[in-house]
Amino acid sequence: MSDLIQLGSINERPKAPRPEDLDLRFSEEAVKELDALKSHYPTQKACILPGLWIAQREYGGYLSGPAIAEVAFRLQRSYAEVEGVATFYSMYNTAHPVGKHMIEVCTCLTCHVCGAYRIADYLKEKLGIGFGETTADGMFTLHEVECLNACDRAPLLQVGSDYHGPVDHAYIDRLLDDLRSKPSTVIQMADDIVKVHLQKSERPQ
Ligand code: FES
Repeated sequence: MSDLIQLGSINERPKAPRPEDLDLRFSEEAVKELDALKSHYPTQKACILPGLWIAQREYGGYLSGPAIAEVAFRLQRSYAEVEGVATFYSMYNTAHPVGKHMIEVCTCLTCHVCGAYRIADYLKEKLGIGFGETTADGMFTLHEVECLNACDRAPLLQVGSDYHGPVDHAYIDRLLDDLRSKPSTVIQMADDIVKVHLQKSERPQ
């Protein structure tokens, strides 16, 4: 019983803001994108997934309580429904704010056999963080993920929309240096996915 209570507190989610406390942050462009998507789906509910990608981009890569509340408000759905969708899919960042770049290390079977944990240990040592943590300067977040479906490139990392593999220590040194001077790959990936949704929905029926 005490384990269950502890687990509940680990997974505690931000509280839903009251409607009168909503602080809407979607840009004019984001509102237009959501309107375009809404007009191409039979129901507003069908827009929850792309709406969450817009929110992930607009809120700096993290779906906080206010971010989820804004999607719920703009799609006229309940907070609980939108939060349920957001927390179901691991590509939405709902657990904690993330850094400018999220480095996702595949540790599934093929990558594991090809040294994924040695790669993970090297990243942890270089960045001074563990899985699920972000560097103090807000630059990098490290995550462990399941098979990324590119096992022929093991050991494999995903950063934003890009796959990197097979990687070794020298590759990681270059990658980290390169990422330090790049715009946020977390926000870039959310934007890429929004654009894909827009293109799909604009195709003639
Ligand atoms: S096991 Fe790593 S990509 Fe498949």
